[in-house]
Amino acid sequence: MKKAYVKSYGCQMNAYDAARMADVLGREGYAATDSVEEADLVLLNTCHIREKAAEKVYSELGRLRVLKGERKEQGLDTRIVVAGCVAQAEGAEILARAPAVDVVVGPQSYHRLPELLARSREKRVVDTEFPVEDKFDHLPARRNKGVSAFLTVQEGCDKFCAFCVVPYTRGAEVSRTVAAVLAEAEKLAASGVREITLIGQNVNAYHGAGPDGGAATLPDLMRAVAAIPGIARIRYTTSHPNDMGEDLIRAHAEIPALMPYLHLPVQSGSDRVLAAMNRKHTADDYRRLIARVRAARPDIALSSDFIVGFPGETDADFEDTLRLVSEIGFESAFSFKYSPRPGTPAAERTDAVPEDVMSARLAALQGLLDRQRYAYQDAAVGQVVDVLVEKTGRRPGQVAGKTPHMLAVQFDAPASAIGGVVPVRIVEAGTNSLFGQALNEAAAA
Ligand code: 5AD
Ligand code: SF4
Repeated sequence: MKKAYVKSYGCQMNAYDAARMADVLGREGYAATDSVEEADLVLLNTCHIREKAAEKVYSELGRLRVLKGERKEQGLDTRIVVAGCVAQAEGAEILARAPAVDVVVGPQSYHRLPELLARSREKRVVDTEFPVEDKFDHLPARRNKGVSAFLTVQEGCDKFCAFCVVPYTRGAEVSRTVAAVLAEAEKLAASGVREITLIGQNVNAYHGAGPDGGAATLPDLMRAVAAIPGIARIRYTTSHPNDMGEDLIRAHAEIPALMPYLHLPVQSGSDRVLAAMNRKHTADDYRRLIARVRAARPDIALSSDFIVGFPGETDADFEDTLRLVSEIGFESAFSFKYSPRPGTPAAERTDAVPEDVMSARLAALQGLLDRQRYAYQDAAVGQVVDVLVEKTGRRPGQVAGKTPHMLAVQFDAPASAIGGVVPVRIVEAGTNSLFGQALNEAAAA
Protein backbone atom coordinates (compact mmCIF):
# COMPACT_ATOMS: atom_id res chain seq x y z
CA MET A 1 0.00 0.00 0.00
CA LYS A 2 1.21 3.51 -0.79
CA LYS A 3 2.00 5.75 2.17
CA ALA A 4 1.31 9.44 2.78
CA TYR A 5 3.06 11.73 5.26
CA VAL A 6 0.96 14.81 6.12
CA LYS A 7 2.36 17.69 8.15
CA SER A 8 0.35 20.74 9.18
CA TYR A 9 1.60 24.12 10.36
CA GLY A 10 -0.25 27.00 11.98
CA CYS A 11 -3.82 27.25 13.23
CA GLN A 12 -6.62 24.81 14.01
CA MET A 13 -8.27 25.54 10.65
CA ASN A 14 -5.16 24.11 9.04
CA ALA A 15 -5.18 21.09 11.37
CA TYR A 16 -8.78 20.43 10.31
CA ASP A 17 -7.94 20.82 6.59
CA ALA A 18 -4.94 18.51 6.97
CA ALA A 19 -7.14 15.82 8.53
CA ARG A 20 -9.64 16.15 5.67
CA MET A 21 -6.86 15.97 3.07
CA ALA A 22 -5.58 12.83 4.80
CA ASP A 23 -9.11 11.43 4.37
CA VAL A 24 -9.03 12.24 0.64
CA LEU A 25 -5.64 10.52 0.33
CA GLY A 26 -7.01 7.55 2.31
CA ARG A 27 -9.78 7.17 -0.27
CA GLU A 28 -7.08 7.20 -2.96
CA GLY A 29 -5.38 4.23 -1.30
CA TYR A 30 -2.72 5.97 0.78
CA ALA A 31 -2.10 4.76 4.34
CA ALA A 32 -0.92 7.42 6.81
CA THR A 33 2.70 7.28 7.97
CA ASP A 34 4.73 9.24 10.55
CA SER A 35 7.96 8.55 8.70
CA VAL A 36 8.76 10.96 5.90
CA GLU A 37 11.54 8.65 4.61
CA GLU A 38 9.08 5.91 3.64
CA ALA A 39 6.39 8.21 2.23
CA ASP A 40 5.26 7.92 -1.39
CA LEU A 41 3.48 11.23 -0.94
CA VAL A 42 4.46 14.14 1.29
CA LEU A 43 1.91 16.87 1.94
CA LEU A 44 2.86 20.09 3.73
CA ASN A 45 -0.15 22.11 4.86
CA THR A 46 1.43 25.51 5.23
CA CYS A 47 0.89 28.73 7.20
CA HIS A 48 1.52 32.24 5.90
CA ILE A 49 0.61 34.27 8.98
CA ARG A 50 4.16 35.29 9.88
CA GLU A 51 7.36 35.26 7.85
CA LYS A 52 8.95 32.56 10.02
CA ALA A 53 6.06 30.21 9.40
CA ALA A 54 6.26 30.74 5.65
CA GLU A 55 10.05 30.33 5.51
CA LYS A 56 9.87 27.01 7.38
CA VAL A 57 8.17 25.55 4.33
CA TYR A 58 11.06 26.34 2.04
CA SER A 59 13.64 24.81 4.37
CA GLU A 60 11.45 21.70 4.64
CA LEU A 61 11.12 21.59 0.84
CA GLY A 62 14.91 21.80 0.53
CA ARG A 63 15.24 18.66 2.68
CA LEU A 64 12.47 16.93 0.74
CA ARG A 65 14.25 17.59 -2.55
CA VAL A 66 17.25 15.60 -1.28
CA LEU A 67 14.99 12.83 0.00
CA LYS A 68 13.10 12.67 -3.28
CA GLY A 69 16.43 12.34 -5.14
CA GLU A 70 17.60 9.52 -2.87
CA ARG A 71 14.34 7.63 -3.23
CA LYS A 72 14.46 8.07 -6.99
CA GLU A 73 17.87 6.35 -7.06
CA GLN A 74 16.16 3.38 -5.38
CA GLY A 75 13.50 3.45 -8.09
CA LEU A 76 10.87 4.99 -5.79
CA ASP A 77 8.57 7.83 -6.78
CA THR A 78 7.76 10.59 -4.26
CA ARG A 79 4.94 13.05 -4.87
CA ILE A 80 5.26 16.37 -3.04
CA VAL A 81 2.20 18.52 -2.39
CA VAL A 82 2.19 22.03 -0.90
CA ALA A 83 -1.22 23.01 0.47
CA GLY A 84 -2.54 25.72 2.79
CA CYS A 85 -1.99 29.46 2.95
CA VAL A 86 1.52 29.68 1.49
CA ALA A 87 0.17 27.72 -1.49
CA GLN A 88 -2.70 30.20 -1.78
CA ALA A 89 -0.49 33.29 -1.43
CA GLU A 90 2.46 32.24 -3.58
CA GLY A 91 0.99 29.77 -6.06
CA ALA A 92 3.28 29.16 -9.03
CA GLU A 93 6.16 30.94 -7.27
CA ILE A 94 6.52 27.81 -5.15
CA LEU A 95 7.12 25.71 -8.27
CA ALA A 96 9.84 28.14 -9.30
CA ARG A 97 11.54 28.19 -5.89
CA ALA A 98 11.12 24.50 -5.04
CA PRO A 99 11.77 22.17 -7.99
CA ALA A 100 10.73 19.04 -6.07
CA VAL A 101 7.10 20.16 -5.71
CA ASP A 102 4.52 18.39 -7.87
CA VAL A 103 1.24 19.98 -6.74
CA VAL A 104 0.32 23.34 -5.20
CA VAL A 105 -3.23 23.42 -3.87
CA GLY A 106 -5.10 26.12 -1.93
CA PRO A 107 -7.40 25.76 1.10
CA GLN A 108 -10.58 25.96 -1.00
CA SER A 109 -9.72 23.42 -3.69
CA TYR A 110 -8.14 20.44 -1.90
CA HIS A 111 -11.12 18.20 -2.62
CA ARG A 112 -9.62 18.11 -6.15
CA LEU A 113 -6.38 16.50 -4.92
CA PRO A 114 -6.89 13.16 -6.72
CA GLU A 115 -7.35 14.87 -10.07
CA LEU A 116 -4.42 17.23 -9.42
CA LEU A 117 -2.16 14.33 -8.48
CA ALA A 118 -3.12 12.50 -11.65
CA ARG A 119 -2.48 15.59 -13.81
CA SER A 120 0.86 16.26 -12.11
CA ARG A 121 2.30 13.11 -13.71
CA GLU A 122 2.33 15.07 -17.00
CA LYS A 123 3.07 18.54 -15.71
CA ARG A 124 3.42 20.20 -12.26
CA VAL A 125 0.09 21.80 -11.27
CA VAL A 126 -1.21 24.76 -9.30
CA ASP A 127 -4.83 25.11 -8.14
CA THR A 128 -5.51 28.12 -5.93
CA GLU A 129 -9.01 28.83 -7.14
CA PHE A 130 -11.97 29.65 -4.94
CA PRO A 131 -14.26 27.26 -6.84
CA VAL A 132 -18.02 27.68 -7.01
CA GLU A 133 -18.59 24.17 -5.73
CA ASP A 134 -18.29 23.66 -1.99
CA LYS A 135 -15.31 21.48 -1.09
CA PHE A 136 -17.24 20.05 1.87
CA ASP A 137 -19.70 18.42 -0.55
CA HIS A 138 -16.87 16.53 -2.21
CA LEU A 139 -14.92 15.21 0.76
CA PRO A 140 -15.07 11.62 2.01
CA ALA A 141 -16.35 10.81 5.53
CA ARG A 142 -13.98 11.70 8.36
CA ARG A 143 -11.75 9.05 9.97
CA ASN A 144 -9.44 8.95 13.04
CA LYS A 145 -11.52 11.35 15.05
CA GLY A 146 -10.55 10.61 18.67
CA VAL A 147 -12.44 12.08 21.64
CA SER A 148 -12.12 15.77 20.80
CA ALA A 149 -12.59 16.99 17.23
CA PHE A 150 -12.44 20.26 15.33
CA LEU A 151 -15.30 21.14 13.04
CA THR A 152 -14.95 24.01 10.57
CA VAL A 153 -18.17 26.06 10.52
CA GLN A 154 -16.91 29.30 9.02
CA GLU A 155 -13.99 30.31 6.85
CA GLY A 156 -12.39 33.55 5.78
CA CYS A 157 -12.39 37.02 7.25
CA ASP A 158 -13.78 40.44 6.30
CA LYS A 159 -12.06 42.40 9.07
CA PHE A 160 -8.83 43.41 7.31
CA CYS A 161 -6.64 44.05 10.33
CA ALA A 162 -3.72 46.01 8.88
CA PHE A 163 -1.14 43.30 9.67
CA CYS A 164 -3.04 40.20 8.59
CA VAL A 165 -2.91 38.07 5.43
CA VAL A 166 -5.98 35.99 6.26
CA PRO A 167 -8.53 38.08 4.29
CA TYR A 168 -6.29 37.56 1.24
CA THR A 169 -5.33 33.89 1.68
CA ARG A 170 -8.63 32.59 3.02
CA GLY A 171 -10.90 35.09 1.31
CA ALA A 172 -14.22 36.56 2.42
CA GLU A 173 -16.22 35.27 5.36
CA VAL A 174 -18.36 32.26 4.46
CA SER A 175 -20.49 30.21 6.86
CA ARG A 176 -21.51 26.57 6.33
CA THR A 177 -25.19 25.80 6.71
CA VAL A 178 -26.57 24.52 10.00
CA ALA A 179 -27.61 21.30 8.25
CA ALA A 180 -24.09 20.66 6.93
CA VAL A 181 -22.51 21.31 10.33
CA LEU A 182 -25.05 19.12 12.14
CA ALA A 183 -24.60 16.26 9.69
CA GLU A 184 -20.85 16.31 10.31
CA ALA A 185 -21.30 16.70 14.09
CA GLU A 186 -23.72 13.77 14.23
CA LYS A 187 -21.26 11.52 12.42
CA LEU A 188 -18.50 12.61 14.79
CA ALA A 189 -20.69 11.87 17.82
CA ALA A 190 -21.71 8.48 16.43
CA SER A 191 -18.05 7.52 16.14
CA GLY A 192 -17.33 8.37 19.79
CA VAL A 193 -16.38 12.06 19.70
CA ARG A 194 -17.41 13.72 23.01
CA GLU A 195 -16.11 17.25 22.47
CA ILE A 196 -16.50 19.44 19.38
CA THR A 197 -14.63 22.68 18.84
CA LEU A 198 -16.45 24.83 16.30
CA ILE A 199 -13.74 26.61 14.37
CA GLY A 200 -13.47 29.51 11.97
CA GLN A 201 -11.12 32.43 11.36
CA ASN A 202 -13.88 34.61 12.77
CA VAL A 203 -16.15 32.00 14.22
CA ASN A 204 -18.39 34.35 16.18
CA ALA A 205 -19.35 36.09 12.93
CA TYR A 206 -21.04 32.76 12.00
CA HIS A 207 -24.31 33.34 10.14
CA GLY A 208 -25.03 30.09 8.29
CA ALA A 209 -28.42 29.33 6.75
CA GLY A 210 -30.70 27.70 9.32
CA PRO A 211 -33.47 25.13 8.83
CA ASP A 212 -36.02 27.88 8.11
CA GLY A 213 -33.79 29.52 5.50
CA GLY A 214 -32.94 32.48 7.75
CA ALA A 215 -29.44 33.07 9.14
CA ALA A 216 -28.59 31.17 12.30
CA THR A 217 -26.19 32.56 14.91
CA LEU A 218 -23.31 30.78 16.61
CA PRO A 219 -25.37 30.27 19.81
CA ASP A 220 -28.17 28.72 17.68
CA LEU A 221 -25.61 26.34 16.24
CA MET A 222 -24.17 25.54 19.67
CA ARG A 223 -27.61 24.65 21.02
CA ALA A 224 -28.23 22.30 18.11
CA VAL A 225 -24.81 20.62 18.49
CA ALA A 226 -25.26 20.34 22.28
CA ALA A 227 -28.50 18.41 21.69
CA ILE A 228 -26.70 15.62 19.81
CA PRO A 229 -26.51 12.49 22.01
CA GLY A 230 -22.95 11.82 23.18
CA ILE A 231 -21.71 15.40 22.87
CA ALA A 232 -20.54 16.46 26.34
CA ARG A 233 -18.55 19.57 25.53
CA ILE A 234 -18.55 22.42 23.03
CA ARG A 235 -15.82 24.98 22.44
CA TYR A 236 -15.30 27.62 19.75
CA THR A 237 -12.41 29.57 18.32
CA THR A 238 -11.30 32.16 17.10
CA SER A 239 -13.48 35.15 17.90
CA HIS A 240 -13.29 38.88 17.22
CA PRO A 241 -14.29 41.29 20.03
CA ASN A 242 -16.65 43.21 17.73
CA ASP A 243 -18.71 40.09 16.98
CA MET A 244 -19.12 39.16 20.64
CA GLY A 245 -22.89 39.77 20.82
CA GLU A 246 -25.15 39.68 23.84
CA ASP A 247 -26.58 36.32 22.75
CA LEU A 248 -23.13 34.71 22.66
CA ILE A 249 -22.28 36.15 26.07
CA ARG A 250 -25.58 34.78 27.41
CA ALA A 251 -24.82 31.41 25.85
CA HIS A 252 -21.94 31.10 28.33
CA ALA A 253 -24.48 31.28 31.15
CA GLU A 254 -27.18 29.20 29.49
CA ILE A 255 -25.64 26.29 27.55
CA PRO A 256 -24.23 23.74 30.03
CA ALA A 257 -22.13 21.97 27.38
CA LEU A 258 -20.42 25.23 26.38
CA MET A 259 -17.12 25.22 28.23
CA PRO A 260 -16.06 28.22 30.36
CA TYR A 261 -13.21 29.24 28.11
CA LEU A 262 -12.88 32.11 25.66
CA HIS A 263 -10.08 32.80 23.20
CA LEU A 264 -10.54 36.45 22.31
CA PRO A 265 -7.57 38.13 20.61
CA VAL A 266 -7.01 41.77 21.58
CA GLN A 267 -3.56 42.22 19.91
CA SER A 268 -2.60 45.38 21.86
CA GLY A 269 -3.62 47.44 24.90
CA SER A 270 -2.88 50.78 23.23
CA ASP A 271 -5.73 52.66 21.52
CA ARG A 272 -3.27 54.32 19.17
CA VAL A 273 -1.89 50.96 18.04
CA LEU A 274 -5.35 49.36 17.89
CA ALA A 275 -6.50 52.18 15.58
CA ALA A 276 -3.40 51.77 13.39
CA MET A 277 -4.10 48.03 13.28
CA ASN A 278 -7.64 48.76 12.03
CA ARG A 279 -9.07 46.70 14.88
CA LYS A 280 -12.09 49.00 15.27
CA HIS A 281 -12.20 48.60 19.06
CA THR A 282 -10.41 50.30 21.94
CA ALA A 283 -8.73 48.77 24.98
CA ASP A 284 -11.63 49.95 27.12
CA ASP A 285 -14.13 48.33 24.73
CA TYR A 286 -12.27 45.09 25.40
CA ARG A 287 -12.26 45.67 29.19
CA ARG A 288 -16.02 46.31 29.16
CA LEU A 289 -16.65 43.25 27.03
CA ILE A 290 -14.66 41.02 29.38
CA ALA A 291 -16.58 42.46 32.34
CA ARG A 292 -19.86 41.46 30.65
CA VAL A 293 -18.57 37.97 29.83
CA ARG A 294 -17.42 37.54 33.43
CA ALA A 295 -20.78 38.73 34.72
CA ALA A 296 -22.43 35.96 32.68
CA ARG A 297 -19.86 33.29 33.56
CA PRO A 298 -17.69 34.36 36.52
CA ASP A 299 -15.23 31.44 36.30
CA ILE A 300 -14.53 31.81 32.57
CA ALA A 301 -10.87 31.27 31.57
CA LEU A 302 -9.54 33.82 29.11
CA SER A 303 -7.03 33.49 26.35
CA SER A 304 -5.80 36.00 23.78
CA ASP A 305 -3.34 36.85 21.00
CA PHE A 306 -0.88 39.76 21.16
CA ILE A 307 1.44 41.38 18.65
CA VAL A 308 4.41 43.37 19.94
CA GLY A 309 6.37 45.82 17.82
CA PHE A 310 3.63 46.84 15.40
CA PRO A 311 5.12 49.74 13.33
CA GLY A 312 5.15 52.93 15.38
CA GLU A 313 4.58 51.16 18.73
CA THR A 314 6.24 53.24 21.48
CA ASP A 315 7.33 52.22 24.97
CA ALA A 316 4.20 53.94 26.28
CA ASP A 317 2.00 51.91 23.90
CA PHE A 318 3.67 48.72 25.06
CA GLU A 319 3.16 49.70 28.71
CA ASP A 320 -0.56 49.99 27.90
CA THR A 321 -0.48 46.37 26.70
CA LEU A 322 1.21 45.19 29.92
CA ARG A 323 -1.35 47.16 31.94
CA LEU A 324 -4.26 45.55 30.09
CA VAL A 325 -2.80 42.07 30.65
CA SER A 326 -2.23 42.77 34.37
CA GLU A 327 -5.78 44.04 34.78
CA ILE A 328 -7.55 41.26 32.94
CA GLY A 329 -5.55 38.16 33.84
CA PHE A 330 -5.26 35.47 31.17
CA GLU A 331 -5.11 31.74 31.64
CA SER A 332 -3.12 31.38 28.45
CA ALA A 333 -2.12 33.50 25.49
CA PHE A 334 -0.14 33.59 22.29
CA SER A 335 2.21 36.50 21.68
CA PHE A 336 4.20 37.29 18.58
CA LYS A 337 6.67 39.81 17.20
CA TYR A 338 5.12 41.79 14.38
CA SER A 339 6.11 40.35 11.01
CA PRO A 340 5.41 42.39 7.85
CA ARG A 341 3.32 40.39 5.37
CA PRO A 342 3.43 41.19 1.65
CA GLY A 343 0.22 42.79 0.40
CA THR A 344 -1.03 43.99 3.80
CA PRO A 345 -1.34 47.74 4.55
CA ALA A 346 1.00 47.60 7.56
CA ALA A 347 3.80 46.21 5.37
CA GLU A 348 3.95 49.64 3.65
CA ARG A 349 4.89 51.42 6.88
CA THR A 350 8.39 52.76 7.29
CA ASP A 351 8.41 53.19 11.09
CA ALA A 352 9.41 49.63 11.99
CA VAL A 353 10.30 48.88 15.61
CA PRO A 354 13.93 47.70 15.87
CA GLU A 355 14.41 43.95 16.31
CA ASP A 356 16.12 44.23 19.72
CA VAL A 357 13.26 46.38 21.06
CA MET A 358 10.73 43.85 19.77
CA SER A 359 12.63 40.99 21.42
CA ALA A 360 12.76 42.79 24.77
CA ARG A 361 9.03 43.60 24.63
CA LEU A 362 8.13 40.04 23.70
CA ALA A 363 10.21 38.65 26.57
CA ALA A 364 8.57 41.06 29.05
CA LEU A 365 5.06 40.26 27.83
CA GLN A 366 5.64 36.50 27.76
CA GLY A 367 7.14 36.68 31.28
CA LEU A 368 3.96 38.34 32.56
CA LEU A 369 1.68 35.91 30.68
CA ASP A 370 3.68 32.91 31.97
CA ARG A 371 3.31 34.14 35.56
CA GLN A 372 -0.43 34.44 35.04
CA ARG A 373 -0.60 30.93 33.59
CA TYR A 374 1.37 29.40 36.48
CA ALA A 375 -0.81 31.23 39.00
CA TYR A 376 -3.90 29.85 37.26
CA GLN A 377 -2.51 26.31 37.32
CA ASP A 378 -1.39 26.59 40.96
CA ALA A 379 -4.87 27.77 41.93
CA ALA A 380 -6.27 24.49 40.56
CA VAL A 381 -4.30 22.40 43.09
CA GLY A 382 -6.66 20.94 45.70
CA GLN A 383 -9.73 21.40 43.50
CA VAL A 384 -11.88 18.63 42.08
CA VAL A 385 -12.40 19.08 38.34
CA ASP A 386 -14.17 17.15 35.59
CA VAL A 387 -11.61 15.82 33.15
CA LEU A 388 -12.61 14.68 29.68
CA VAL A 389 -10.14 11.85 29.06
CA GLU A 390 -8.66 12.07 25.56
CA LYS A 391 -5.75 9.62 25.38
CA THR A 392 -3.21 7.56 27.26
CA GLY A 393 -0.80 9.62 29.34
CA ARG A 394 2.94 10.10 29.24
CA ARG A 395 3.64 7.27 31.70
CA PRO A 396 2.20 3.75 31.51
CA GLY A 397 -1.02 3.43 33.49
CA GLN A 398 -1.83 7.11 33.06
CA VAL A 399 -4.41 8.89 30.97
CA ALA A 400 -4.51 12.53 29.85
CA GLY A 401 -7.37 14.92 29.36
CA LYS A 402 -8.60 18.48 29.81
CA THR A 403 -10.52 20.39 32.43
CA PRO A 404 -13.46 22.60 31.38
CA HIS A 405 -10.97 25.50 31.59
CA MET A 406 -8.63 23.75 29.07
CA LEU A 407 -5.94 22.81 31.57
CA ALA A 408 -4.19 19.54 30.69
CA VAL A 409 -4.37 16.87 33.41
CA GLN A 410 -2.62 13.51 33.79
CA PHE A 411 -3.80 10.87 36.25
CA ASP A 412 -3.71 7.11 36.86
CA ALA A 413 -6.55 5.25 35.17
CA PRO A 414 -6.94 2.41 32.68
CA ALA A 415 -7.21 3.18 28.98
CA SER A 416 -10.90 2.26 29.23
CA ALA A 417 -11.41 5.69 30.86
CA ILE A 418 -10.76 7.36 27.47
CA GLY A 419 -13.88 9.11 26.26
CA GLY A 420 -15.31 9.50 29.76
CA VAL A 421 -15.65 12.57 31.97
CA VAL A 422 -13.97 11.75 35.29
CA PRO A 423 -13.91 13.86 38.48
CA VAL A 424 -10.25 14.30 39.44
CA ARG A 425 -8.63 15.93 42.48
CA ILE A 426 -5.65 18.00 41.35
CA VAL A 427 -2.61 17.31 43.54
CA GLU A 428 0.24 19.00 41.73
CA ALA A 429 0.93 21.57 39.02
CA GLY A 430 3.77 20.94 36.55
CA THR A 431 4.91 23.37 33.86
CA ASN A 432 2.51 22.32 31.11
CA SER A 433 0.24 19.88 32.87
CA LEU A 434 -1.55 19.20 36.14
CA PHE A 435 -1.35 15.89 37.98
CA GLY A 436 -4.34 14.44 39.79
CA GLN A 437 -6.11 11.46 41.31
CA ALA A 438 -9.45 10.14 40.12
CA LEU A 439 -11.96 10.80 42.88
CA ASN A 440 -13.64 7.50 42.37
CA GLU A 441 -11.45 4.69 41.05
CA ALA A 442 -14.58 2.90 39.90
CA ALA A 443 -15.57 5.89 37.79
CA ALA A 444 -12.19 5.84 36.11
CA ALA A 445 -12.20 2.10 35.55
N1 5AD B 1 2.75 39.49 12.52
C1 5AD B 1 2.70 38.95 13.76
N2 5AD B 1 1.63 38.30 14.23
C2 5AD B 1 0.55 38.20 13.43
N3 5AD B 1 -0.66 37.64 13.63
C3 5AD B 1 -1.39 37.79 12.51
N4 5AD B 1 -0.68 38.46 11.58
C4 5AD B 1 0.52 38.74 12.13
C5 5AD B 1 1.69 39.41 11.68
N5 5AD B 1 1.74 39.96 10.46
C6 5AD B 1 -1.05 37.02 14.89
C7 5AD B 1 -2.28 37.72 15.49
C8 5AD B 1 -3.38 36.74 15.22
C9 5AD B 1 -2.64 35.43 15.32
C10 5AD B 1 -3.34 34.26 14.71
O1 5AD B 1 -1.43 35.67 14.65
O2 5AD B 1 -2.05 37.87 16.87
O3 5AD B 1 -4.44 36.84 16.15
FE1 SF4 C 1 -6.62 38.47 10.57
FE2 SF4 C 1 -7.92 40.41 11.91
FE3 SF4 C 1 -9.31 38.65 10.40
FE4 SF4 C 1 -8.15 37.81 12.68
S1 SF4 C 1 -9.82 39.35 12.51
S2 SF4 C 1 -8.09 36.76 10.68
S3 SF4 C 1 -6.28 39.05 12.73
S4 SF4 C 1 -7.83 40.17 9.65
